[in-house]
Amino acid sequence: MSKQESVLEVENLRVYFPVYRGFLRKVSGYVQALEKVCFTMGKGEVLGIVGESGCGKSTLLKSISMLVPPTEGKIVFSCNGNFYVLNELTYHELVKLRPFIQIVFQDPFSSLNPRMRVWNLLAEPLQLHASLSRSKLRDRVEEILVSVGLDPSHVYRFPHQFSGGERQRIAIARALILRPSLLLLDEPTSALDVSLQAQVLTLLEKLKEEYKLTYILVSHNLGVVKYLSRRILIMYLGRIVESGESEDVFFSPRHPYTEALIQAIPRLDGEGRRRIILKGEVPNPISPPSGCVFHPRCIYKRGICEKKIPQLQDVSSLHRVACHRAEELKLAGLG
Ligand SMILES: Nc1ncnc2c1ncn2[C@@H]1O[C@H](COP(=O)(O)OP(=O)(O)OP(=O)(O)O)[C@@H](O)[C@H]1O
Ligand SMILES: [Mg+2]
Repeated sequence: MSKQESVLEVENLRVYFPVYRGFLRKVSGYVQALEKVCFTMGKGEVLGIVGESGCGKSTLLKSISMLVPPTEGKIVFSCNGNFYVLNELTYHELVKLRPFIQIVFQDPFSSLNPRMRVWNLLAEPLQLHASLSRSKLRDRVEEILVSVGLDPSHVYRFPHQFSGGERQRIAIARALILRPSLLLLDEPTSALDVSLQAQVLTLLEKLKEEYKLTYILVSHNLGVVKYLSRRILIMYLGRIVESGESEDVFFSPRHPYTEALIQAIPRLDGEGRRRIILKGEVPNPISPPSGCVFHPRCIYKRGICEKKIPQLQDVSSLHRVACHRAEELKLAGLG
């Protein structure tokens, strides 16, 4: 991808959170939430990020939107032909860029101010970042409500007067009203029941075309990500363990963790998959295992896996994996 086309480049991103102990709050260690994360995103791309709870998905989105500053590494964002290293900008420079990177949080209950009416929730970002006349403001609010499938006549209601699915639509509308170049969606459907999940996914698909969106979709549900994203990153304990086009990752996974995630998807035809049960829990990110961090749970591990950290390497064009045994293993994918 030429530099011109890239919207986002994340280079060697590390995020460590200090852990404090005792009355004097001495730093006793660090939660290694993200460890050397690298990827690039092109304009118009939908990137899916999958991994178990605690693997650093939200931390990654929060650092891209500069809510959590990186400990090390670079986040390069491209906008209107200019490149910005987000973590080197001043506060005022960041404020100017804010409209271009928007985030939708997992839980629409806590992300929408319950004391603000929908009108204020949607008009406020516009009033802060663009000077529009009252009638233009009204048009934009009405237009976005129609786009996300809500009735514009409900504009003076409060968030609690909507259902969970509708609240998530309001959150999406609030993120989109500034026409961002990059939209970050943190588990946008996980607080919703299955039928509402499908509706929100269909809406996101429609909005992608309508607003020519570039977005990152985070989920612990492989099915959700597969539906919308052409490219996928699989994360484990703050690291990318596999990345590639969705088809390649789902049908020919190269990392044992990806295989285990795929095999855990229930099949509708009742046929059994080769069930690989992920043993144990995700290790503590304060003291991650030596070598490959997945080795304590890996059914294919060898001696080298405990000693040497595997690097992300190309297995074919656009498909990368960090596993010492990637060349020799024949893993089961979807199908
Ligand atoms: N502000 C913080 N202070 C200390 N540790 C944190 C902080 N935020 C996140 N962490 C830790 O960083 C790790 C990654 O957390 P994160 O919320 O990014 O995971 P996640 O993949 O989004 O999980 P989930 O699927 O449950 O939302 C976890 O071990 C978490 O406890
Ligand atoms: Mg999260």
